[in-house]
Amino acid sequence: MIVPRHVAIILDGNGRWAKAKGMPRTYGHVKGCDNLEKICTVAKELGVKYLTVYAFSTENWKRSKEEVDGLMKLFRNYMKKCIKISRDNKMRVRVIGDPRAFDPDLQDKIRELEEYSSQFDELHFQIALNYGSRDEITRAVRRMAEDVRKGALDPESITEDTISGYLDTRGLPDPDLLIRTSGEERLSNFLMWQLAYTEFYFTDVAWPDFDKAEFAKAIEKYNKRDRRYGGVKED
Ligand code: FPP
Repeated sequence: MIVPRHVAIILDGNGRWAKAKGMPRTYGHVKGCDNLEKICTVAKELGVKYLTVYAFSTENWKRSKEEVDGLMKLFRNYMKKCIKISRDNKMRVRVIGDPRAFDPDLQDKIRELEEYSSQFDELHFQIALNYGSRDEITRAVRRMAEDVRKGALDPESITEDTISGYLDTRGLPDPDLLIRTSGEERLSNFLMWQLAYTEFYFTDVAWPDFDKAEFAKAIEKYNKRDRRYGGVKED
């Protein structure tokens, strides 16, 4: 079995999962968060080396104040709990996206977690928070333009690798497999540059129910794909 080195997951369906149980959306996020606590260990057990999850998009601010506040509270608690998870799994954690929109105390917690976990490299875990691919590319282009203005970057020398190096994911390999839970089949502004050659796997299972068996199923399906790009495919 070939295990994808880098798996990206769009964590979707917390709200509908809760609604189906007659519970508020925030309950779905709590259960989604519980599942996120387990998924790093599961990924490691399955042999995945890089795991990137989409937890809060640049568009998610449009949700009700109650829901956004509930998510911020979950993120705060999670950053603390994640210290132990990173130690247990020897896992390095990075947050991708623009953290400047968050309250200063949450920004501090993110920084603490990133600093503490930078000693580990058995699993690399990226959490996308206030992340949007277009926003990431816009921020990257601004920095590149700034470097050109300073004379630190020659426009003639810009390659695809140069651009990758300005993205939040610099230094990380591109995902081999993208999983989206809960039935929707779209990218929702997630890692658009990085997913150029990635295999996609969609499942109706909602994020709070996405367990090790479901993860293994996605990897099994990935193994049945023919991954030669651009070349001639055999029948
Ligand atoms: C999508 O489900 C999920 C989110 C917008 C939030 C994801 C958050 C978590 C899994 C909680 C914890 C995360 C961290 C990093 C601690 P949805 O609410 O869009 O579900 P719906 O499509 O059914 O409405």
